[in-house]
Amino acid sequence: MRFEVISGQLAQVSGEVLVLGLLQGTQSLEASAQAVDAALGNYISQCLKAENPVFKAKLGETLTLPTYGKLPAGHVVLLGLGKAEDLKATQWRRAVAAAVRTCKKLKVKQLTMGLPEPVVQGMEVQAASRLLAEGAVLGQYDFTLRKNLKKNSDENGELASNGAADLEVLTVVEPQPDRLEAIQQGLRVGQLVAEHTNLARHWVNDSANYVTPAFLKQQAESIPGLQCEVLDFERIKALGMGAFQLVAQGSEQPPYLIHLCYKPSGAPTKKVALVGKGITFDSGGLSLKPAASMELMKMDMAGAAAVIATLKAVAVLKDLNIEVHGFIPTCENMPSGNASKPGDIVTAMNGKTIEVNNTDAEGRLILCDALTYAQQQVDPDELVDLATLTGACVVALGKVAAGIMGSNDSLIQGLRAAGEQAGEKLWELPLYEEYRAFLKSDVADLINSGAKGQAGSSAGGMFLQEFVDKKRAWAHLDIAGPAWTTSDVAEVPKGGTGFGVRTLLYYLYGWTA
Ligand code: BES
Ligand code: MG
Ligand code: ZN
Repeated sequence: MRFEVISGQLAQVSGEVLVLGLLQGTQSLEASAQAVDAALGNYISQCLKAENPVFKAKLGETLTLPTYGKLPAGHVVLLGLGKAEDLKATQWRRAVAAAVRTCKKLKVKQLTMGLPEPVVQGMEVQAASRLLAEGAVLGQYDFTLRKNLKKNSDENGELASNGAADLEVLTVVEPQPDRLEAIQQGLRVGQLVAEHTNLARHWVNDSANYVTPAFLKQQAESIPGLQCEVLDFERIKALGMGAFQLVAQGSEQPPYLIHLCYKPSGAPTKKVALVGKGITFDSGGLSLKPAASMELMKMDMAGAAAVIATLKAVAVLKDLNIEVHGFIPTCENMPSGNASKPGDIVTAMNGKTIEVNNTDAEGRLILCDALTYAQQQVDPDELVDLATLTGACVVALGKVAAGIMGSNDSLIQGLRAAGEQAGEKLWELPLYEEYRAFLKSDVADLINSGAKGQAGSSAGGMFLQEFVDKKRAWAHLDIAGPAWTTSDVAEVPKGGTGFGVRTLLYYLYGWTA
């Protein structure tokens, strides 16, 4: 999708579809809507006044009207913005996504819209434009890469077009010329944020026979503007990453520890290290998952996808005075003759021994060594890991929110606030001292799965904390719930959600509405 900005009046623009955002529960139309309404013989205002209207302007509701030549545009899509008092970043982004999805169903190639005044009253023009582009590009997404393969020439797993029904041009019309530049800038940023969210979605949606550790490595290595160093299995073993090694050894696919780095042109204000769980398939290992729980385990690399896509976005966006590192331990968790056995005891890179009583608690085993390595390599001011770590987190928070845990309140609150702006929810879970009992092993320093049916997400967080320096600002995001969705929200279609990309980018860049 391409964005285009023109100066003019909405009602006077020709094009396939004109999208008109309207508030619920108000009958006074803003100037640009009035002009469209007048041309359509006051149909819109009558409709909003009616006792039982066919269009109520609820958030994301759309109604498609033909213009019968009364306007230069072929059709008008009325778009509900919901109630004025609820109209914030999330609602505006969602409304635009809904409009784009309606247009996609209609196989429209071009649409025209403005920034509705009620939106611009509540936020800056640049933010409103950024959200518009985010909504449009997020709403456009679906995973069709491996469908209709004849039409889809690009079979190698690269980000492919989403098929023939895609919107090609979104034209933003703005009557005030002094706003054009801010709109351009907002659109550019929003488009990049959403395209990289879609990239993460794409990797999560694609199947584990394509998205292997080698695939992630190749994706990371091919990002222009980033340094990339990859440790292979030999190096992983040589560095003493016994926990990571144990998980990786059960698979035919070679594991990697990927290290990506963005360095700003000037002196960095701080160093942030992001660590993403990259289990490209989680069978559970010898502690095998039942079939129904295994079905979706291609999504167990969603943390890795979020970290790689975020770094890729930073490399394109630039304008960031923060040094950002990405660490991605990636392997499969498989049962085999060489797989780890329940009861195995290993020594992690930091010297702690771990009794692996459950090979399905593998995420913490690959992450703990990656956390040690990340701190050793870059001594980051802030350390953030993202992982589809526990089913318990899905039980606690559903698919609505990620669990966030950590040692530093300002980092946690900063990430939560960024998530709020980004449209991703993070809810804090405790790391109470009492939970340390769950880590107790009779035969090693730690056990990897000691909590049976109690505070499983916190137990995962407690385990990881054992590998983080006491003074380090660290946050752990358990994204097991929101990384994959079966409900269909306009800007978050079914499947992989790309959760984390927006929160991390909003956090790093400090964007607000
Ligand atoms: N990848 C799973 C967690 C998961 C579950 C992610 C559902 C997404 C949806 C993780 O490796 C796992 O298997 N965790 C175990 C931990 C337990 C053995 C301590 C779990 O949640 O059962
Ligand atoms: Mg597991
Ligand atoms: Zn897992």
